Amino acid sequence: MKTIVICTNFRPFTTQPSCAQRGSKALADWLEQEIETRGLDARVDRSVCLGHCVMGPNARLLGEAFCHFADKEKLLPLLESLPEKPAD
Ligand code: FES
Repeated sequence: MKTIVICTNFRPFTTQPSCAQRGSKALADWLEQEIETRGLDARVDRSVCLGHCVMGPNARLLGEAFCHFADKEKLLPLLESLPEKPAD
């Protein structure tokens, strides 16, 4: 099973940006929904800060390059690269 890591870190009391302030939680919800709808063999890991805050939202397929400034359009190719769930 593949894992999509997406930072959902939120910093409420600072001017430093965080991925959750830029909509990463809604993106994570959307990814989970798409994985379910498309029957993909993948899961979403909502992560603490990944160290690229100024370029958030940040996401990646575990072990692969980051997708910075992630949005649905940028994450679509990643979704489309995922394998389908094996038949039972
Ligand atoms: S808050 Fe998301 S990478 Fe730091």
